[in-house]
Amino acid sequence: MINPIHLKDMGTRELADELLLQLNEWNNVPMLYQLALEELQNKIKVIKTELKQINGYSPIEHIKVRIKEPKSILDKMKRKGCDLTVDNMLNLIHDIAGMRIVCAFVKDIYLLLEHFKQRSDIQVLEVKDYINDPKPNGYQSLHIILAVPLILLEGTRWMKVEIQMRTLAMDFWASMEHILFYKYDKQVPAHVHTELKEASEAAYALDKKMLRIQKEILSGIANSGP
Ligand code: GTP
Ligand code: MG
Repeated sequence: MINPIHLKDMGTRELADELLLQLNEWNNVPMLYQLALEELQNKIKVIKTELKQINGYSPIEHIKVRIKEPKSILDKMKRKGCDLTVDNMLNLIHDIAGMRIVCAFVKDIYLLLEHFKQRSDIQVLEVKDYINDPKPNGYQSLHIILAVPLILLEGTRWMKVEIQMRTLAMDFWASMEHILFYKYDKQVPAHVHTELKEASEAAYALDKKMLRIQKEILSGIANSGP
């Protein structure tokens, strides 16, 4: 950030140069995150292909990526009370690059997490397990902050990506809850919250049922051998 005292001493030309430098820096950041997301998507493509060959099905149903809007980044930095500098943006905002991985089964989510932890080209920095410990409203997902190396001309930069991993049932619930509620500050009757919580328990029960059915099918296949 430009120091205000420094600003007073600057001529118009120097000020314009300084601002241009900062604007370039701010512009550069989304591009770096976009490249980091592409790197990660490629790694996941390889994992997906391998797992499909081993298991006979793809544990990854679909992937969505997004770069946080500049306004949302600035709002978050203000909420955190930090100075609006590129350094703070890189160091303190962990979800500029976001990826959502929707899996078939809960076990696939933990399998992917373990795989990420073992790789030398991925650093798992933080894990928030809202599957084993759902949010009070019923929200379930596994949130991971990880870093992937971006090899640039200037050297290697580790870029952070936030990954949300959830099952199809959890994704259905979260998408609906987002449509209905997320960041909605108006009061709703208490029974609405209860019903939504019940819906998330139903999603959990559905996941368990599907897993049980899969086990039964697989054991049927194993037992029907020649
Ligand atoms: P923010 O990143 O500022 O939201 O705070 P945080 O890092 O403490 O939040 P957290 O890691 O728990 O959640 C980050 C993201 O998860 C959100 O931006 C949403 O995409 C998703 N999320 C978290 N809680 C909910 C929820 O209750 N409902 C839905 N639909 N999504 C949620
Ligand atoms: Mg977050």
